Amino acid sequence: MTTRTISHIIEPQLVIEGAGVLLRRSISPRASNEYDPFLLFDHFAFNNPLEGPIRGFPTHPHRGIETVTYMLDGSVNHRDSLGNAGTIGAGDVQWMTAGRGILHEEMPRRGASGNIYGLQLWVNLPAAQKMSQPRYREVKSSTIPIIEKDGASIRLVAGELEGIRGPVTEITAAPLYMDVKLAPASRFIFPIPTGHTTLAYVFEGAGEFGSQAVESVSMVVFNDDGAQIEVRSDTGVQFMLISGAPFKEPIVPYGPFVMNTVEEIQQAITELQNGTFVK
Ligand code: FE2
Repeated sequence: MTTRTISHIIEPQLVIEGAGVLLRRSISPRASNEYDPFLLFDHFAFNNPLEGPIRGFPTHPHRGIETVTYMLDGSVNHRDSLGNAGTIGAGDVQWMTAGRGILHEEMPRRGASGNIYGLQLWVNLPAAQKMSQPRYREVKSSTIPIIEKDGASIRLVAGELEGIRGPVTEITAAPLYMDVKLAPASRFIFPIPTGHTTLAYVFEGAGEFGSQAVESVSMVVFNDDGAQIEVRSDTGVQFMLISGAPFKEPIVPYGPFVMNTVEEIQQAITELQNGTFVK
């Protein structure tokens, strides 16, 4: 099988979001929709207890997208306009389909180690589902399958590997989302359907992706030129493998909304202003 080559590597940029949260942002929603069906990828990390109080993301809306939060350390307390509330702990995933709209807050907390380390991915919704019923899937760490294979330890959130399916299913973009940890001197080969947008967020260590050396922290963007991806590492590497089918629809992003037309964005803003955003 042919192996996909790298199109380009994105160096995450530091940005400030919410109530002053410093993030590493690799991709963000743009009308060009280059990474269709993926819209945004943020990495938030607080490792120094002297950084002061942890600021969070006070109440804000979303419409037309799915947000996927994966915590590696620390936790996020959340609550929303639908009456949901809970905590996303280390190893847990929250897959939230905003659909026609939610208002929620997300407040990170340090774990026992003193650290907070989390990743948030935004996945687009097709036009026909942008105004669908909001839906939450809380995935506890213990329900995420861990597959050990040839020096790779893989936590499978969504997608299929070795006949095992991740706990998050029925997502229109048919996404693959997995946390892959490669031991030193190991190799990982994974089949990817033709046409599926494929990214790898390398957050620890270093390895060769295709035939190109990549160091953390980097977002690798693969070309659609092969039936599999291949990663090798001499010293060990950890990355999120992200892949999904593009919708090939025009998008109009505006802050926490991603719709298909300017009129739909204006409608969302009007509803937010007159108090009818959440029904
Ligand atoms: Fe949010």
